[in-house]
Amino acid sequence: MKGIVLAGGLGTRLYPASLPISKILLSVYDKPMIYYPISTLMQSGIRDILIITNPLDYDNFRKLLGNGAQFGVNFKYQVQFEAKGIADAFLIGESFIKNDSVALILGDNVFYGKNFEKQLKNAVSKNNGATVFAYEVDDPCAFGVVEFDENGRAISLEEKPSKPKSNYAVTGLYFYDNKVVEYAKTLKPSKRGELEITDLNKLYLKNNKLTVEKLPENFTWLDTGTHDSVLNAANFIQKTEKATSEKIACLEEIALKNGWISPETVLENIEDFKNNNYYDYVRNYIIKMAQKV
Ligand code: G1P
Repeated sequence: MKGIVLAGGLGTRLYPASLPISKILLSVYDKPMIYYPISTLMQSGIRDILIITNPLDYDNFRKLLGNGAQFGVNFKYQVQFEAKGIADAFLIGESFIKNDSVALILGDNVFYGKNFEKQLKNAVSKNNGATVFAYEVDDPCAFGVVEFDENGRAISLEEKPSKPKSNYAVTGLYFYDNKVVEYAKTLKPSKRGELEITDLNKLYLKNNKLTVEKLPENFTWLDTGTHDSVLNAANFIQKTEKATSEKIACLEEIALKNGWISPETVLENIEDFKNNNYYDYVRNYIIKMAQKV
């Protein structure tokens, strides 16, 4: 399976902070926002990742992430020239996806929870249909909303409804089989002029090929679109990292756990980054790994 991080858009809701640089490169506590969605793809076992950027920040994304070898993955880059919607990612990414299945994650989505890796791997292992995740929120009007029947089966999807049929938001992480490109080509722009991811999911729902998994109550999903939500996310990451003594979305750590890179290579790569909390954590993690063996 391939992965796409959609990091296009200008993030105007975070102006002036995001005027000189994409909001997805701004930090959420101790690392750039994009580390979080990348970590989710890596936890899913996905190594071939396309990063879709806005035209202005293409070089900045490359400067931060390079070819991905430092995390044992392969990054490719493409530009989204106009904000044509989330489902446009499959048209931009067509030649990258080729005959594969694909996961898409939005650049400003943070996922954190126990056993999530299992749920992710489950979604990856299905090679038919689509899997999305639903999360209970107080303000469903701001999201794609899914309605369930009494047996917990998804029966309707609506994008930012004024009268939501449930409190379950569809989060910004989507797993699809290879039909997604074909389906995306049939979409028409919505009233706001975008190819809606919800319309794409509706096609899977109509064909009885959509699995909607509810994320548990003790799960955390954060969409960092506003100043308050960026601050909330940063506070959450800080609190959780201090409480667990573990970093969330430390990409070197995930690569090491997955066996995608050797400790020696990581140490060599980060040799020059001294007096730095993030890289000290990576060095300590490697020491702990060696002690366990
Ligand atoms: C988008 C999707 C929406 C989804 C949300 C998750 O909304 O259109 O269906 O629930 O991402 O973050 P947007 O961020 O474009 O407002």
